[in-house]
Amino acid sequence: MRHLMSPLDFTTEELDKLFDLANDIEKNPEHFAHACDGKILATCFYEPSTRTRLSFESAMTRLGGRVIGFADAASSSASKGESVSDTIRIISCYADICAMRHPKEGAPMVASEKSTIPVINAGDGGHQHPTQTLTDLLTIRSLKGRLGNFTIGLCGDLKFGRTVHSLINALVRYDNIRFVFISPEELKVPDYITDMLKDRKIPYEEVIRLEQVMPELDMLYMTRVQKERFFNEEDYVRLKDFYILNASKMALAKQDMLVLHPLPRVNEISVEVDDDPRAVYFKQAQYGVYVRMALILTLLEKER
Ligand code: NCD
Repeated sequence: MRHLMSPLDFTTEELDKLFDLANDIEKNPEHFAHACDGKILATCFYEPSTRTRLSFESAMTRLGGRVIGFADAASSSASKGESVSDTIRIISCYADICAMRHPKEGAPMVASEKSTIPVINAGDGGHQHPTQTLTDLLTIRSLKGRLGNFTIGLCGDLKFGRTVHSLINALVRYDNIRFVFISPEELKVPDYITDMLKDRKIPYEEVIRLEQVMPELDMLYMTRVQKERFFNEEDYVRLKDFYILNASKMALAKQDMLVLHPLPRVNEISVEVDDDPRAVYFKQAQYGVYVRMALILTLLEKER
């Protein structure tokens, strides 16, 4: 049985196959409209979500399958004290595949050990968010035509942002990528990541000012300051509007630079940027459905 806990669970060759399948789904959705007839996806979300949960539900529905689940811990038996290990044993009786989001790092992994159906980590605390990473990689590959040979800036909350941690982990396997980390001192990327980059001799730079590096970026990955992971409100309020990408900053960037954002956006990208053709974050959300369709098909195929 195959689960997805981290983007590294797939080799780069397997990812290429998955992305080819996603592009095929994008072009010929009607070919896949009954691919999951009779199958059930369970979405077990112990933490808020709009995109991830609904894009999973949309993906399964577009494949002809059905969806059951809960959208917050309070409406599940977790509120009565049930463990994720017990919950997944039950879910395994009801569904064929499960997407789980949890505020605790490693909870989906614990669930996968007791599960008899494939479990997909839909975000675990500040740790990993592999399906967002698949979405990001598919977006880059589809719009740039390649994975590799670029300078990517990651901006905002690099400390708590699980999408950032997952994406860096996944990108280091491609050739000739340079990272530029743009964050306030308090929200720097964790040491375990910079240590890994040093070990692998992958070039990176850490800066505070976004303007300073704008002209050198091929891609800018903006992120929201992760309010829910702060220990006090005061720090959040001080840091939340540290970066605001606007038209004047975009004027400093390359003509073909792409702006990505996992969304939701708060203030970090001004709405005036939305009409810039380089802003691809809404398109990125659409790729999120195709890649989740490809993922569900791939994990259920392995099952058969
Ligand atoms: C992200 C997440 O949940 O980590 N959202 C998402 O899944 N698209 C990013 C965020 O919440 O900032």
